[in-house]
Amino acid sequence: MNVHDSEHIAGVLEQSGYLESEDPLESDILIFNTCCVRKSAENRLWGALGRVADHEKRIIVAVTGCCASLYGMKILSDFPNVSLVFGRSEINELPQILSRASKQRILAVGDPSSGEIDFQHQRSCFPARAWVALSHGCSNYCTYCVVPLVRGPERCRPLGEVVEEVRRDMRDGKVKEVFLLGQNLNSYRDPGNNKIGFARALEEICSIDGVDRLKFLTSHPKDLTQDIIDAMADLPAVCSYLHLPLQAGSNPVLQSMNRMYGREHYLELVEEVRGKIGDITLTTDIMVGFPGESEEDFKMTMEMVEMIRFDGAYTFIYSGRPGTKAEKSLDLVPEEDKKRRFLFLAERQTEITYEKNRQLLGKWVEVLVEGVAKKGKGLLTGRNRGHRVVNFPGELSLVGSLAWVKIAKAGKNSLTGTMVEEKTGALAI
Ligand code: 5AD
Ligand code: SF4
Repeated sequence: MNVHDSEHIAGVLEQSGYLESEDPLESDILIFNTCCVRKSAENRLWGALGRVADHEKRIIVAVTGCCASLYGMKILSDFPNVSLVFGRSEINELPQILSRASKQRILAVGDPSSGEIDFQHQRSCFPARAWVALSHGCSNYCTYCVVPLVRGPERCRPLGEVVEEVRRDMRDGKVKEVFLLGQNLNSYRDPGNNKIGFARALEEICSIDGVDRLKFLTSHPKDLTQDIIDAMADLPAVCSYLHLPLQAGSNPVLQSMNRMYGREHYLELVEEVRGKIGDITLTTDIMVGFPGESEEDFKMTMEMVEMIRFDGAYTFIYSGRPGTKAEKSLDLVPEEDKKRRFLFLAERQTEITYEKNRQLLGKWVEVLVEGVAKKGKGLLTGRNRGHRVVNFPGELSLVGSLAWVKIAKAGKNSLTGTMVEEKTGALAI
């Protein structure tokens, strides 16, 4: 979602004549689009602001995104080198605000729940993938989560408007993958007709000419209904990829997180999804050290990890976030227990991910080529339909196109293979 917001910022600025700089420190304006979902994300902003403070050149330093909403004025008072703090709802007025920012320091953070966010001007950082927001904000109020506070309650966009946007995106044939975004897409409802939910949205979007690779983030186990699973299974354009945050494996912890489902329901969903959608890549988010999490609770999480064997998981250590209910809890898990649980979980999941990746050896996968791989000379990198990272040797001209790759090597974080002109026989994912 933040990448998408950054594209919006870049688009608005480009429209009024700004150019992107090759070197951030040589630019006139430096904008930090920030995340505050965990303490570690927030710390990256404080570190970066400290680093640019030493820089001699007179740059307008601006901060936006979730930290801007959460801290506003505090950023201006703690960092004298920051000229501007602006919210997401101010993006469209950014050129006007910037013209004043060279003369005075500005705080422009409106109410996150107000104002329609209009994504008319977008500058795609990677034109082969179109990010499309279906909703903004979240109304779930998980007790650890700051997102509803900084992004406001859930506001869904009318499906007609979304369909128009995707049609526009598909016009020049460059877009190979449509990526739908929302904090909880499974609870999507068209504001004009609440009979239209996410399953119908998937159907309509997949019927647009050229859409044959569609992914979405994120889902919520309490709202992942039968009709959505059926739509995923029935629509060939919807990739066999589901990111379904588990967060914790013990019912008391899930309850105090206000997740509104239990482990039994989650297991049923996994069975259903794996039964109906062939070759589904199932990934998740898991957090350890939530206030009150006992050793027994943690064991229940590990039990779920062993039973489900996720294809991949993002694992986190709980950190208290300002203004959330969980932050007020006094029943904190000691740091050393949190770390030990985190390492245990992360190591075990890495092994499982590696085993899962090895199952793809010898198979063909469809890769959207994104660019040059960070490691390995001459390798391109991209993602398959299950959103796994796949590297292979190839020409730069392939960036932005789809390639068929036969997997020859499986690592912990990525797969490596060779490109084939045409897929033959073996399973394709
Ligand atoms: N501490 C740690 N992890 C968190 N997440 C959200 N809030 C917190 C927090 N306070 C994790 C959840 C969520 C992912 C985006 O970040 O697992 O799914
Ligand atoms: Fe945060 Fe829960 Fe909403 Fe996800 S569903 S954004 S974790 S409040």
